[in-house]
Amino acid sequence: MSYTTDHSEKATAILEGDGLNDYSHKVNRQFVADVYAGLTSEEKYLSSKYLYDKRGDEIFQQIMEMEEYYPTRAEYEIFEMHRGEMLEYFSKDKIPFRLIEFGAGDGTKTKVLLQHFLEQKANFSYVPIDISANIVEELTTDLAENMPNLKVQGIQDDYFRAIDRLKSSFDGQQVRNVVLFLGANIGNFSNPESIAFLKEIAAHLSPGDLLMTGFDLKKDPERVLNAYFDGSGITRSFKHNLLLRINEELGADFDIDNFQYFPIYDPMEGSVRSYLVSKKEQQVTISAIDEVIEFEAWEAIYMERSQKYSLNDIEGLAQHSGFSVMHHFYDSQSLFTDSLWQLH
Ligand code: AVJ
Repeated sequence: MSYTTDHSEKATAILEGDGLNDYSHKVNRQFVADVYAGLTSEEKYLSSKYLYDKRGDEIFQQIMEMEEYYPTRAEYEIFEMHRGEMLEYFSKDKIPFRLIEFGAGDGTKTKVLLQHFLEQKANFSYVPIDISANIVEELTTDLAENMPNLKVQGIQDDYFRAIDRLKSSFDGQQVRNVVLFLGANIGNFSNPESIAFLKEIAAHLSPGDLLMTGFDLKKDPERVLNAYFDGSGITRSFKHNLLLRINEELGADFDIDNFQYFPIYDPMEGSVRSYLVSKKEQQVTISAIDEVIEFEAWEAIYMERSQKYSLNDIEGLAQHSGFSVMHHFYDSQSLFTDSLWQLH
């Protein structure tokens, strides 16, 4: 299929900055290249990592407050219930530890732990890592004000480069790394992507280091689906926002009213997959890539995966990536687990 070759050549050219026009030289090339690849693919898709611009962050805040969206509250409850026990694992044998949080956000949940650890006079430091400089800056300022005794070293970088930048000692002593990857963010990855990601974490840690990951558990499929199909349309606007972002940043002309939000849950695979479906045959122009994208009536764009796990699924992931499961922490309804692993 020659058109496939054309697309990949053009995608490479975009990434290298060739032939960028007035729109695209202002924006993130990776974003342009990914939008181009996704919308010219046989099965159209857009990466969920682009949902989180300023407006997307705000809508996601609203999602976390929705009645239907249980994961955030469940994980918060886990932290409140089990922070004492968590500290025992993290500080075992009185080794000082370093809490390294991937994708720290505003740290609301983590503060429950930090506060408790400070009260217990634990010997630790907090290293929030985020790719957004803005987020790291806000969180660091906030913590300096509200938890003046906390040792904080915020890092704005790629997660793995950030780990490499950390020193291997702490006040001249041995230090245990404790990586936190919370909020069920791992659920956006496919299974092979998760294993690759977890192996990469393992490669940047030392034996004995810990990793605690938030997993949303398999449960009543109606309850799962409802978390992504709220009556108020907040999740719909979260997805529509990415089309609006493409309009603004890449000079496109998506009309969001022509795209219907539709999530499904497959209880066997445990995956929620959500789509925006073109309600009619239509064309959308994207100036930054000089493309007109054709949509057939009822053609879908795959927007996001939100994977749900069984305990077996979780054990399998740990085994395949070089960790052993130490403990599963649950909320009172066992909707969610923060799973603590140790690197062999
Ligand atoms: C932030 C990836 C955990 O998949 O549950 C919420 C994002 N999308 N509602 C999830 C999301 C729609 C959320 N994660």
